[in-house]
Amino acid sequence: MTVLEAIQRSAEFLSKKRVDSPRLQAELLLAHVLQLPRMQLYLKFERALAPKEVDDLRELVRRRGDREPLQHIIGSTCFCGLEIAVNRHALIPRPETELLAEAGWTFLSTLNSQPSTALDFGTGTGCLAITLAVKCPAAQVFAVDISPDALALARQNAAQHRVESRLQFFADDGFAPLPSGTRFDLIIANPPYIPAAEIDTLEPEVRDHDPRIALDGGADGLDFYRRLAHEAGGFLKPGGRFMLEFGDGQEAFLPKIFTQQKWVVEAVKADYNKRPRILIAHRAG
Ligand SMILES: C[S@@+](CC[C@H](N)C(=O)[O-])C[C@H]1O[C@@H](n2cnc3c(N)ncnc32)[C@H](O)[C@@H]1O
Repeated sequence: MTVLEAIQRSAEFLSKKRVDSPRLQAELLLAHVLQLPRMQLYLKFERALAPKEVDDLRELVRRRGDREPLQHIIGSTCFCGLEIAVNRHALIPRPETELLAEAGWTFLSTLNSQPSTALDFGTGTGCLAITLAVKCPAAQVFAVDISPDALALARQNAAQHRVESRLQFFADDGFAPLPSGTRFDLIIANPPYIPAAEIDTLEPEVRDHDPRIALDGGADGLDFYRRLAHEAGGFLKPGGRFMLEFGDGQEAFLPKIFTQQKWVVEAVKADYNKRPRILIAHRAG
């Protein structure tokens, strides 16, 4: 079987399994098997695959057909240009969260405080905390997650990007593990925000493979915003910023939740699909 035939057959199979962008997915899986950048496949359409390569590809395509996420099969994803290892213990970083990271490092870069400090609430793979540390070489970053397994992955990613000396990880519930009196220039969070009853309606890649604890935002999806609005203020330095991601349709509810807890909402930013996605706030007064 040639490279082109393998791509065509795999794409056909994935299309029948209702996988999104089947041709692209087939190409990415084959590029992974052949350890090549995807675009190189276009220069090798006539290359014959070895029997082992065919077997390896068949197994990966079968898994993708069962709706296992491509990132889990490959073992990593790209976030803000950084390779981030992923597994079933942490949410796969999403492209829209890159905008949250960018808002965070842009703000930290404007500060004169040395070192600047940031807290990533619910760090998962560590993608936000690590990006902040990479982009802001003077920043000290704390990262909290309730899942020790996710934190093990975040530590591994931090070491991979050589920022572990400027990151501190805490496995616990919310702000509980932070030493009292700790104050940050920036608190950043992409908390669980899916309404609990909607989780079963999500695509299998998300429903069956992202950890439920990373998705479940309570009955209306807003539990973490109420909690963060209430608790985060005590951990922010004067002049500090609170930046968080939220889900579709939630922008209507967030300003009230935050203003009630003495926050000033200074901006709501849209994602690549022009949907409101990121809220930026500071303390009133
Ligand atoms: C939506 S995921 C975000 C992961 C990562 N920050 C990202 O943007 O890809 C939310 C994370 O919050 C963590 N989490 C859930 N409940 C928590 C709690 N009570 N305290 C701390 N972290 C929590 C989950 O384990 C999960 O890693």
